[in-house]
Amino acid sequence: MKKLLMVLVALALVFAIAGCNKAPVKPKIGVAIYKFDDTFMSYVRNQIEAAAKDKIELSVQDSQYDQPKQNDQVDQFLTQGATALAINLVDPSAVSVIMDKAKAKKIPLVLFNREPDAADMAKWDKVYYVGAKAQQSGTMQGEIVVAYWKAHPEADLNKDGKLQYVMLMGDPSNTDAKFRTEFSIKAVEDAGIKTEKLAEDTAMWDRVKAQEKMAAFLTANKGKIEVVFANNDDMGLGAIEALKAAGYFKGKKYMPVVSVDATPPALDALEQGTLLGTVLNDAVKQGQATYDLAFALATGAKEIKSDVAPLAKADGTVDPTGKYIWVPYVKVTKENYKDFKK
Ligand code: GAL
Ligand code: CA
Repeated sequence: MKKLLMVLVALALVFAIAGCNKAPVKPKIGVAIYKFDDTFMSYVRNQIEAAAKDKIELSVQDSQYDQPKQNDQVDQFLTQGATALAINLVDPSAVSVIMDKAKAKKIPLVLFNREPDAADMAKWDKVYYVGAKAQQSGTMQGEIVVAYWKAHPEADLNKDGKLQYVMLMGDPSNTDAKFRTEFSIKAVEDAGIKTEKLAEDTAMWDRVKAQEKMAAFLTANKGKIEVVFANNDDMGLGAIEALKAAGYFKGKKYMPVVSVDATPPALDALEQGTLLGTVLNDAVKQGQATYDLAFALATGAKEIKSDVAPLAKADGTVDPTGKYIWVPYVKVTKENYKDFKK
């Protein structure tokens, strides 16, 4: 009996040790955000943190709009033994530096939201991108304005048949800023409406900067502005502040403002009737897909995938060998904004 017990104890020990040896190392993912002080990115970050909670070791760093700083953060992640990286680039055109660092250590890299060139993406097979097609968001903004313009002949203030507009841009070298600016106006023109740009300037995705720019636009173009396009909600909301200060949204004085993101404050503005429309930039899905890919790569999973959306090519074609996850945009107006309120 005693012998049997001893054998059993020995066996248990053997199994315990074998089990220990097999215990997987906790995956370690290093995340850098181009700057924490960006409303939309803070929602993406929240989702990554929520998804990672208790599952992996996660380090999230603020790159403070400083590419050299972000490069140092990547060095640190690599020295600390990260098994995958998820990077929201400060300067997407400088991706090669980070890619070379990751490649040298054979640590896979997921880039998200600030899109690098497809040519750079093609340089390594262990680099992925999660984001949304900026062109699509621009087109949707344009479509919202077209519907409004057609339903409201009084919107053409000077009755010249042309739509006079101002444009508030994000950082001008950024893909989202470029394509939203271009494709919003293209959609208006494609609908047969002539446009005239009164002013265009960058407000760096920032609410306060946009408020200042919009105040200046209003002074320089008294009574001439018919529509305000903003590359994101924060800038749209800043413009609305400036418009309110100039007496808009009282009585009959109205200005159509369109933006992108569908953040909670933008949904409130839609409810209040100050914001005409926005486009959902899905922070939850982007954050989740970024985490899913980084986790799969960090753990050497056989299949690199996310349930959010399938892998695709740069052009959007669904393809299991693709390195992109494209999260779709959704048009948000007063008809459907309630569906997006949490
Ligand atoms: C965009 C988003 C903006 C801002 C920007 C940063 O996708 O709409 O609000 O976060 O990314 O690059
Ligand atoms: Ca006009």
